[in-house]
Amino acid sequence: MRGPEGRGSRSATFEARPNIALVKYWGVRDRTRALPYNSSLSVTLDRLRTRTRVRFDPKLGSDRVVLNGQEASGGPRDGVVRFLDRVREASGERSAAEVVSDNNFPTASGMASSASGFAALAGAASRAAGLRLSPRALSQLARFGSGSASRSVFGGFVEWRAGTRADGADCYARPLYGPGHWPELVDLVVLVRGAPVKEVRSQEAMQWTVATSPEYARRLSELPRRLAAIRSAIARRDPDRLFPRVMEECDSFRSVCETTRPSLDYLTVTSRAVLTEVRAFNRERGRPRAAYTHDAGAHVHVFTLRREAGRLRARLARVPGVESLTLLRPGPAARPLGPNV
Ligand code: PMV
Repeated sequence: MRGPEGRGSRSATFEARPNIALVKYWGVRDRTRALPYNSSLSVTLDRLRTRTRVRFDPKLGSDRVVLNGQEASGGPRDGVVRFLDRVREASGERSAAEVVSDNNFPTASGMASSASGFAALAGAASRAAGLRLSPRALSQLARFGSGSASRSVFGGFVEWRAGTRADGADCYARPLYGPGHWPELVDLVVLVRGAPVKEVRSQEAMQWTVATSPEYARRLSELPRRLAAIRSAIARRDPDRLFPRVMEECDSFRSVCETTRPSLDYLTVTSRAVLTEVRAFNRERGRPRAAYTHDAGAHVHVFTLRREAGRLRARLARVPGVESLTLLRPGPAARPLGPNV
């Protein structure tokens, strides 16, 4: 016998990819419901993935969390347990769970693993608990682990709508275009040496920004137009319109971080040199041929066109402190692996 009745164990496995935001989520308007102030837009990436298996088992005394082969404790374990509690609450499942999760990329590689991690956990835990959620409902669940995880439920180009309702019913991610929409567009991921380990979790840091940055209100007022412009440039596959807006958005994000008190300074000298090189590259090409963006960390994603990637790569490889350059493309949606057992 399987199921929440509790006489046997059951499990499910899910796989999800990280994403990089072109329009950043930064600020929560309702912490209990995990509702953001603004809508955001991202590209789900290929090649990198988190694979997570969740097994509810009445014989387990407490939740067990194994991340990349290591038994998790403290903050990382607590985040997973809180998420499992939410799934138990929604499903009536009462057993403790074993969660085994692996990334095929090093967590210290600078690729945010919380988006793929919580999207995979949402899929595996909800299925193992017998919930059959639509992708939209899955995105609504995943955001409680990490806001950006709501977007990793879908592949390609994804928008997470902030919505306006107090109950959050109109807050969810939705796919805009599939991974094959713009084959020319690539993401050159630039890892920088000596990137500092994040001291403050994004969820907390962004609330400092909301409370203290004098530029936050202006950023929010600008975002609807910027988001619409970026969405339409993607629709038309138009780099001349897309790339300047992506950099403008990244600059706006960085500026509210830097004017937060205490200041949030995520970049290293090398990251800043990469931004400078991308600007110089565009000037020399005579039109926007690349766009930088970064999250709350020192590594930089540089979007460009396939035919420009070799030239740009050679140039960025010469920046002192650049550790590696990896070419990624838009990738697929999160998905279950194998049958529930
Ligand atoms: O999903 P969180 O809570 O880790 O926050 C993500 C914040 C940014 O990566 C900076 C922006 C984004 O939209 O992904």
